[in-house]
Amino acid sequence: MAKITPIDREIVLDPKRYIVSETDASGKITFCNDYFVEVCGYEQDELIGKPHSIIRHPDMPKIVFKLLWQTISQGKNINAVVKNLAKDGRYYWIFTEFESRKDTDTGKIIGYHASRKTISKHILEIISQLYTQLLEVEKKDGVDASEIYLQNFLKEKGDDIEFANIMEEIHRFY
Ligand SMILES: Cc1cc2nc3c(=O)[nH]c(=O)nc-3n(C[C@H](O)[C@H](O)[C@H](O)COP(=O)(O)O)c2cc1C
Repeated sequence: MAKITPIDREIVLDPKRYIVSETDASGKITFCNDYFVEVCGYEQDELIGKPHSIIRHPDMPKIVFKLLWQTISQGKNINAVVKNLAKDGRYYWIFTEFESRKDTDTGKIIGYHASRKTISKHILEIISQLYTQLLEVEKKDGVDASEIYLQNFLKEKGDDIEFANIMEEIHRFY
């Protein structure tokens, strides 16, 4: 049997295809496209009604999801780099655009939408290093400490930099 090296554990994504899903207001999956199913390896019916934490990778720092939910629950959009875990244990990195879906009459949030695509090696290098550091701080001193670490990281880059804009900013400061 062929030996599995760490590199084999990464799923290589098609840069032309988007991985799309939608949730209700509580974050339970209501829709996922064919590419979502193909990449993560779960069947549609294993995904519908579940939260996305079914594909949460243990390398992801908690602070990223805390900021994600803080932002989208206020009706604001956010972009984030996410490492996901497929059913067979392999992983894939994606650039994700999160949006809230609102009732057109009331403006009330009725759910969320996520569209994911591949990211450049350059961005990934910077972000994966940052996430490794955030996770280390989280494991040692907790999620509040990792939030402070992230704030200081962003402050070092400039006064007006928010996590939600970090992708755009990486092009500016690196
Ligand atoms: C539309 C939408 C898409 C999401 N996509 C992912 C995803 O691809 N991977 C992931 O780990 N979490 C995703 N999340 C965040 C999860 O809901 C969850 O917060 C995260 O997996 C961490 O799990 P926890 O909140 O149970 O700690 C998404 C949330 C929403 C609203």
